[in-house]
Formats: sequence, structure tokens, C-alpha cells
Amino acid sequence: MIVDLRSDTLTRPTEAMRQAMIMAEVGDDVYGEDPTVTALERRVADLLGHEAGLFCATGSLANLLGVRLLVEPGQEVVCDVEAHIARAEMGAHAALGGLTMRTFPSDRGRIDVAEVAKIISPAAGPYLVSTAAVAVENTHNFGGGTVQSLDQLRAVSELCRDHGLGFHLDGARLWNAHVATGTPLIDYGRLFDTVSVCFSKGLGAPVGSVLVADADRIGRARVLRKRLGAGWRQAGILAAGALHALDHHVDRLADDHAAARAFAEAVAENVPAAVDPAGVETNIVIIDTGDRPAGPIAAAAADQGVRVSALGARMLRAVTHLDVDAASCAAAGKIIGTLLTRHTAP
Ligand SMILES: Cc1ncc(COP(=O)(O)O)c(C=O)c1O
Repeated sequence: MIVDLRSDTLTRPTEAMRQAMIMAEVGDDVYGEDPTVTALERRVADLLGHEAGLFCATGSLANLLGVRLLVEPGQEVVCDVEAHIARAEMGAHAALGGLTMRTFPSDRGRIDVAEVAKIISPAAGPYLVSTAAVAVENTHNFGGGTVQSLDQLRAVSELCRDHGLGFHLDGARLWNAHVATGTPLIDYGRLFDTVSVCFSKGLGAPVGSVLVADADRIGRARVLRKRLGAGWRQAGILAAGALHALDHHVDRLADDHAAARAFAEAVAENVPAAVDPAGVETNIVIIDTGDRPAGPIAAAAADQGVRVSALGARMLRAVTHLDVDAASCAAAGKIIGTLLTRHTAP
């Protein structure tokens, strides 16, 4: 048996989701005539308390557009040093958006209003690059599925308002934060000017993200998306998968969180220093391999049917999802824990 915990993007659509996609009513979305896309955009905008939404192929595209709406070429966006927009979007924000990025240190990606206040330089005239926006990730991927504190988000939102800065949320896994804390999505959404959410991570859809903002900004984002060659036609087939995910796959994220905890407990049983199960907040587990190199451990685990990512020289990441259950995650954790005790420093 293979337990693939490299990412929650690896899921395949369920039979019911495939049926919903096959039956989707569609039209040409560039003409604004795909009813299923329009329904998805309306529904997500309402869930997050915004005027309008734009269905995009990827989270990276939704983030690129969301940040670009708030930051002009030559200005900067501020985010944490491990942010997905900084590390994993192939420099798109600089290469395509023409903006610069400045980062602050953080504990597992947690935003801290004091750190943000320290580095912003709004309206800096001809002396410094002007900060135009702050971006935050919830949950935080490389931080290990960390949930942002609502109080800190409120404080940064206020700081941004006071200084005329935009505030963007990379909410690829906002659903996980919502399920883990019970915080209504709208309570998160209203704090931001632009929010991206993904359906292709924990929600198990094959493709798709939605960017929400006010109607004027979404109108501009629609033009920018087309300019990037990313306008699409009968995309309702994909939007139907996302709508199905919203109906059936949100509440069950609690199962993924329990499975992640079971995985971490099994690892910690062998090597307590590798991971603190109490620190597992959602569906991502970061394992500190200590003085053992992560790559060979990931390779040895794969030989035993357990796939995890070696994200750094001494760091493994495991992500639970729709296609794995708690029992197999616990068994996988046991294998990783055993391997950790066997591999010694080179
Ligand atoms: C936090 C976060 N934001 C954005 C993305 C980008 O999503 P996509 O792969 O659809 O471009 C990811 C992808 O894993 C992510 O983890």
C-alpha cells in the first residue's frame, strides 16, 4: 500500500465530484456566460464578505492578481520570509507584476503586527521603495499548517488601514483554518482587500482557485487575467468540481487534521524531538530530522510505501488529505519514526 503524504494537491476527484463535473451547465466564461463559474464566484464572494469573485486556474494566479491589484510596479509587498508568494511562485510577482518584496522573520509563518510595523515604509517618496500592501498566508504551508491568530490579523488589518496599505490573504488553505478554529470565513474575509482561496488542496477538486475583492478590483483582475492568457471558456466543468467540494468536503477537513495528529504522534513515539503532536494545528506536519539528512529518509520511506517531501536538508513535510485515512497515516508515522532512529548523522 502507498500512503502519499507529499501534498494535499495529490487527491483525485471522487466519483460524485466527477458526476457533478460531467453534468455542469456551461457557457463561454470570457463572454461572462458560464452559469456554473458565475455561481461559484458569487458563492465564494458571499462566503468571504466581498462584492465579487474571479475563478482562476491556480492559487498562484489568484495570488498574482490579488497582490498586483494592490501594488503598482516599483512598489513593494511585505510578507513573511517563508510565504508561498515569496518562495514558491517562481518570482511571478516580480517577473510579471513588476513589484518588489520585503520579508520579515516569523515563528512558523505566524504574522506579528510588531514585525510588520517595523518594516513597512508607506508613501516613502523618492527615498525608499514605498510599501503598498501586506500579504499573509492562512493556514501557513511551510510553517506547518499554522493557523493565524484572528487578533493579529485584525491588528495588521487596522495597521494597513491606518497607513493606506492594501492587505492580501493567501487563503489556499483558509478552509482548514476555518474548520480548525470555528472562525466564520466571513470574519477572516472582511479583514482583507483581496483574498485567494483554493479548491485543489484539501477540498479535493482537480483545479481551481477564486480571488475575491470589490467589484471594481475584480473587473481589473479580469482584464489582467486575460492579458496573461488565462481567460477561459467552458470552465464551468471545473467550477462544478469546486462547488461540489464546497458542499461536501469542507467539514471533513477535521478528519485530515485528526489524521495529521495521528501521524505526528506515531513519529513522536519513536523520536519525540522530531515533532510535537500538540503543535499540529491542521493537516500539515513538519518533521525535524535533527542531525539526520532528510533526503535519504524520504527515499527510504518511499521504498516502504510512504511518500513525504524533503523540504530542507533536515526537514520533512507530510500533508494529510481526502485520499488517506487516520489509520494509514498512523502506520506511515510509525515507519518514519523507525527510519529516524536508524539513520545517523553522516
Ligand atoms: C499557501 C499556498 N498558496 C498558494 C499556492 C499555489 O497554488 P497553485 O499550486 O494552485 O498555484 C499553494 C500551493 O501549494 C500554497 O500552498
